[in-house]
Amino acid sequence: MERTVDESGLRVSVSGDVEVATYLEIAEEKYGHESVPSADGAPGAQETIVVLDFGSQYNMLIARRVRECRVYCELVPFDTPWEQIAPLNPKGFILSGGPASVYDPGAPVAPAYVFESKVPVLGICYGMQVMAHQLGGRVAPSDKREYGHAVLHQNDEAAALFKDLPASVPVWMSHGDTVDEMPPGFRSLAYTDNSPIAVMGNDSGMIGLQFHPEVAHTEHGKHILRNFLYDICGCSGAWTPGNFVAEQVERIRATVGSGRVICALSGGVDSAVVATLIHQAVGDQLTCIFVDNGLLRREEGERVLDVFKRNLKMNLIQVDATDRFLARLAGIVDPERKRMVIGDEFIKVFEEQAAKMEHADFLAQGTLYPDVIESVTPENKAASKIKTHHNVGGLPKNMRLALIEPLRNLFKDEVREVGLTLGLSEEMVYRQPFPGPGLAIRIIGEVTAEKLEALRAADWVVMNEIKKAKLYRDLWQSFAVLTSSSSVGVMGDHRTYGHVVAVRAVTSEDAMTADWARLPYDLLGRISTRIVNEVPSVNRVVYDITSKPPGTIEWE
Ligand code: XMP
Repeated sequence: MERTVDESGLRVSVSGDVEVATYLEIAEEKYGHESVPSADGAPGAQETIVVLDFGSQYNMLIARRVRECRVYCELVPFDTPWEQIAPLNPKGFILSGGPASVYDPGAPVAPAYVFESKVPVLGICYGMQVMAHQLGGRVAPSDKREYGHAVLHQNDEAAALFKDLPASVPVWMSHGDTVDEMPPGFRSLAYTDNSPIAVMGNDSGMIGLQFHPEVAHTEHGKHILRNFLYDICGCSGAWTPGNFVAEQVERIRATVGSGRVICALSGGVDSAVVATLIHQAVGDQLTCIFVDNGLLRREEGERVLDVFKRNLKMNLIQVDATDRFLARLAGIVDPERKRMVIGDEFIKVFEEQAAKMEHADFLAQGTLYPDVIESVTPENKAASKIKTHHNVGGLPKNMRLALIEPLRNLFKDEVREVGLTLGLSEEMVYRQPFPGPGLAIRIIGEVTAEKLEALRAADWVVMNEIKKAKLYRDLWQSFAVLTSSSSVGVMGDHRTYGHVVAVRAVTSEDAMTADWARLPYDLLGRISTRIVNEVPSVNRVVYDITSKPPGTIEWE
């Protein structure tokens, strides 16, 4: 199992079976929290699609694709009661795939309201089978899985689902059971070589798909989903970052009233967007706390001050806690110990600062939708423990702060769009992730001021050259690591004995897997020459060509 973290550092990292608490986890154990549902970014009056989650590995993708079509959607457990669904006033339902067979004892079924509410329903894979099974059709059990590409041929080219699509399209299959008898009123809208009923539909907008439209392998999948959303459910695609900002500003104002909000700024995208959004809503009622732990990249601290204090004119308390962090890190070589110590020290500094404020009522956090989803889906019962921990804030002892999480319904790419809409620069919004423990986990072995200085200089060269080569945004992360090896070299007439720096650059979608980036040799050459010339204690540079798995992105 592997859970990782966003750049805000407000997250837990789990690798193997080891849970690593960051300061927020420690905080929750100490103080607990209250949350404020009215400020959590709930959708209000907009058009909403409800995706019922039957446990497919692809279900988060379904939600993303729907959002990419500019339609708001929520992914909820398949057995969510109607009282929770009714306020969303859904324009349609999507039943996700899942690992079960409808014939398994206790197999999950769709709640009756799905078929009674008279709005369109799209069943995907297991969602289609459960629809057939519950509405009086028959599902053929199968021991074999059909897995991979197939070609879908339409029976009914006039079907709204296929609007503007070619008559035959490649699709991605991953299923065991199939529907062999449709429920009354349904007809087959399309077939593949193996499945005579690859798509079924009736006149009330109920549709079943045997294939997965949400995966990238189904080339026209998003088009098919868009047809369902726009032409069958009647959605208009009004879910835009601009609307989101306007609505959230109102909500935050209503929730906060004349109260005071505190927010920890890390320099990462999520906390930057949260702070800017809240600042737009309540101005000086927001105070941001930026803890400089001395483990940041070169110029990071100044950049945060520039953007938030000088340009956006926010109340910003900056604390230079470098000495405290370095003192705590002295003698520590174990990576998980480093994380614990950094998390613990952060919370101490944060508490001290918060306690100096006259009063505060709310703590703002950059929790994102993937965290929320993972904590509620049936497939992720184990993950929910992690999530409830790491989403909770470091609450000063003498304050009961309520939590505001205005981004909790957004995916990362939506957060970026919201950031741009709020006027944050592309540089800020498209920043590569940076781990909370910072450069400490990129120095192998003990962290010292001298090593930090060397790593910062080497890292600066990497960043600089990658940006000059216009590759920064194509890479998930690119950075330098100060290894614990030293090597012999020769410079001029002198023998040298210096640090070995490793350069790491990876491409990735979500950090769960990653590939080493095929950087041009010339670029690598420039990086190497500059590091050795510009960083006195370094005399050798190597390039890390390990993918994840089996490696991880960070070295520690
Ligand atoms: P790994 O090294 O596990 O990293 O492949 C995956 C992603 O998580 C980031 N990372 C962290 N972020 N605190 C953080 O805030 C941490 O302790 C931490 N460890 C790893 C890493 O930079 C990458 O984006």
